[in-house]
Amino acid sequence: MIISEQIQQLRVKINEHNYHYYVLDDPKIPDSEYDRLMRELQTLEAKHPELITVDSPTQRVGAEPLTIFTEVVHDIPMLSLSNAFNATEIHDFAERLKENLQTEIIEYTAEPKLDGLAISLRYENGLLVTAATRGNGYRGEDVTQNVKTIKNIPLRLRGQYPAILEVRGEVVMPKAGFAKLNQQQEAKNEKIFANPRNAAAGSLRQLDSNVTATRPLTFFSYAIGTVSEINLPDTHSAILQQLQQWGLPVARQNQVVNGIKGCLSYYQNILTQRDALPFEIDGVVYKVNNIEQQEILGFISKAPRWAIAHKFPAQEALTKLLAIEVQVGRTGAITPVAKLEPVNVGGVTVSHATLHNQDEINRKDVRAGDTVIVRRAGDVIPEVVKILIEKRSATSQPFVLPNKCPVCDSDVVRITGEAVARCTGGLHCPAQRQQALQHFVSRQAMDIEGLGKKLVAQLVENNLVNNPADIYDLTHKQWAGLERMGDKSADNVMSSIAKSKTVTFARFLYALGIREVGESTAKILAEQFDLEKLRRTSEHELQQIMDIGPVAAKHIVNFFQQIHNIEVIYRLQAAGVHWPTVRLLTSRQTLRDKIFVLTGTLSQMSRDEAKSKLQQLGAKVTNTVSKKTDYLVAGEKAGSKLKKAKDLGVKILEETELAELLKN
Ligand code: IVH
Repeated sequence: MIISEQIQQLRVKINEHNYHYYVLDDPKIPDSEYDRLMRELQTLEAKHPELITVDSPTQRVGAEPLTIFTEVVHDIPMLSLSNAFNATEIHDFAERLKENLQTEIIEYTAEPKLDGLAISLRYENGLLVTAATRGNGYRGEDVTQNVKTIKNIPLRLRGQYPAILEVRGEVVMPKAGFAKLNQQQEAKNEKIFANPRNAAAGSLRQLDSNVTATRPLTFFSYAIGTVSEINLPDTHSAILQQLQQWGLPVARQNQVVNGIKGCLSYYQNILTQRDALPFEIDGVVYKVNNIEQQEILGFISKAPRWAIAHKFPAQEALTKLLAIEVQVGRTGAITPVAKLEPVNVGGVTVSHATLHNQDEINRKDVRAGDTVIVRRAGDVIPEVVKILIEKRSATSQPFVLPNKCPVCDSDVVRITGEAVARCTGGLHCPAQRQQALQHFVSRQAMDIEGLGKKLVAQLVENNLVNNPADIYDLTHKQWAGLERMGDKSADNVMSSIAKSKTVTFARFLYALGIREVGESTAKILAEQFDLEKLRRTSEHELQQIMDIGPVAAKHIVNFFQQIHNIEVIYRLQAAGVHWPTVRLLTSRQTLRDKIFVLTGTLSQMSRDEAKSKLQQLGAKVTNTVSKKTDYLVAGEKAGSKLKKAKDLGVKILEETELAELLKN
């Protein structure tokens, strides 16, 4: 086959996979295979630069940075939407439409109102030629280079398309990508974005498209602007389907509904899904589905009469920061918390917001008395997004974390390189003791029913319990003597405590509250170790286990080196706490201390999977081939490592041989 054909076939293949992945949400091949096709295309194009076309899937990045954005005049203005904030306003909207259309029941499409920024994509003869921001609705900025880096925007349309087509839609940054971006920004000491919309806007307004390319942006189309033919479908929902057939992504949540009743139940339904959606929305949009009816209705000033945005209650609100308080967590972490003048944020009254740590406070320069914007997203703790510096009083003072624990007066220290400052009081600190006990008895840990927060607080206040083992020594008389406890409640708690003595090793480990050992790490540890083995393990050995990093390993080893921790464990066992012994995964260490290197692509499993399976059998998996390497596992496309292994005479295993080895 001649090179140009080979290249063309590859492009068709890649575009087809893009379509399945981004538009149909139904990928046909694993990511690794997709990457392989892309690399193949890149290699061929590198050898034959004369064959590169502007719509090649490789041409999304690499354009020269701009010095300024040029202006684009929109053929058809980009409109906005009228807003409604409650059901009454929606009913009014529907009444107006009924009157104008002289009909009783109207069909609508209901769509999420995506919280990003509107753009217009212009395709000429199927090729993406211009992408522009909304700007003032009439003139926007040319952001074509940046938009090309958004992977779910097709550079070329599929199938039969009009010669000229303008597609309108929203560019958003998914929540997960936003969180990650801000982490990276923070690590680099760069600008933190207040919300995904700002981050999306900031990313599209980069002069260097290489920066945009690193930002996790996504596009959804919701309307058509200019189009060079009139044979478009006669409903909005069919137009959306048509857009999908041309290869443009459309939000999956779009739906055709009947009448205002249908709209309002859609609203409720999306509201319950809101937190679980991968991107932020600030409401829903209802559009008259029938295009002829849309045309009859027309426009008022800058918005269509046939559509309305039904907004969700705001997730951000303005309030006053009354004071900065300090909380001591289970592991002694000192967290500054903003005490706020209570304010309604998206339907929930918020009176506290986390300020994370001293660095965050410094960065935002938050002070007591400030007027602040608080933000609540889902069920995460509300946050202070920013302060309104112009409203600050001249006498306000910067906040500094105390250097003594506000609860036990022990020293507060902050280890260099860590963001968090901690109280050094350990279980001597009543705050830490209270929370360690609460954690110990919690449902996912020892599950002692009926021993709630308030009861634990009484135990701590009355100095009845210093550590978890003490719980098992309390007498009926001691329980019954507590406030709001009687004989009956004492019986109940004591029977829950008795029940808790039969536990699993994983739960027990989790209950101990070792730092960095959450539920899943505890489970992994319990699969690989029994108590005695875990006590004697080393950081190095722990780190061989998938999912256990150096920090967790250090905390685990450190925990078991503290004699008082061992004492507590033995006392718990003496009190009758026990768990069934299970067959450990590591009991079959047939590959103990053998050193493996994995290279190339495996077809039956990922390299990570192979690594963890080998480790479970006691093998060590390293990255570089040396004389010490026992086996090199060579998958497809193995490169330099294979050569080196051959040179050094290292035994080479094919994937099938590896499978055999893992089976035996
Ligand atoms: S339709 C002619 N549909 O909301 C109507 N807009 O407040 C044009 N938006 O500028 C807009 N999701 O940026 C439409 N499903 C959706 C939308 C949506 C978000 C944005 C868009 C528009 C703004 C108007």
